[in-house]
Amino acid sequence: MPKIYIGGNKGGTGKTTLTVNLAALLASQNKDVMIVDADLQKSSTMWNDERSQKLSDDVKEIYSVQKQSGDLSGAIRDLNRRYEYVFLDAAGVDQKNLRHGLITADVFLVPFKPTQFDLNNLILLQPIIEEALIVNPELNVYAVISMSPTNPRVKEVDEAKDFLREFPQIRILETFICERSIYHLSASEGLGVTELKAKTESNKKAQKEIINLLKEIGV
Ligand SMILES: Nc1ncnc2c1ncn2[C@@H]1O[C@H](COP(=O)(O)OP(=O)(O)OP(=O)(O)O)[C@@H](O)[C@H]1O
Ligand SMILES: [Mg+2]
Repeated sequence: MPKIYIGGNKGGTGKTTLTVNLAALLASQNKDVMIVDADLQKSSTMWNDERSQKLSDDVKEIYSVQKQSGDLSGAIRDLNRRYEYVFLDAAGVDQKNLRHGLITADVFLVPFKPTQFDLNNLILLQPIIEEALIVNPELNVYAVISMSPTNPRVKEVDEAKDFLREFPQIRILETFICERSIYHLSASEGLGVTELKAKTESNKKAQKEIINLLKEIGV
């Protein structure tokens, strides 16, 4: 049963956005999904509170629990016995949660904005990933470009992918996530982009991004 940790050591890269969107897509496929919210900001808990008022045949229940202190890896291992999919949503700056997440996860997905400042953080993340792979050699580490400009003339995505190739432990996903207003809108409603009627081309593209992302991480 997959444990998926969308994390990294940088704030505001789209971790919670990807967590709730993948969780919503899995829920719509009738999977049992639990989100462990280890972030004091409680973003995914608030998203799920909103969602719980909208449950219907099209909006399936997702479970969430707050775990902002105590034995996080123990809690994740326990929840993993009870749910098909367990997501961990932690704050970017929290190194302790980062380590807990890495030793318990099957999939570690690191979103990066395609800017050099964001990418430089990977240099700090690399030794932590290497250490985690010693105790958790089954861990699959992926990087996904997140919040990318939609303008195709912008070369940032290719440049970011070139940079990430220098990190052999990390597989770079073909899928990349663009900056789209539908991600804000759906999140404020407690929904994933795949649960909204796609009214524009951009919305349809956002749905494809999330569907392809789930396929590519192979869970
Ligand atoms: N692909 C996207 N397109 C547009 N807006 C986005 C996208 N991804 C995230 N955002 C917005 O960017 C902000 C930060 O996103 P999010 O909260 O998912 O990041 P985070 O990495 O979880 O942040 P933190 O480190 O604070 O937990 C939010 O306002 C969110 O709605
Ligand atoms: Mg977050």
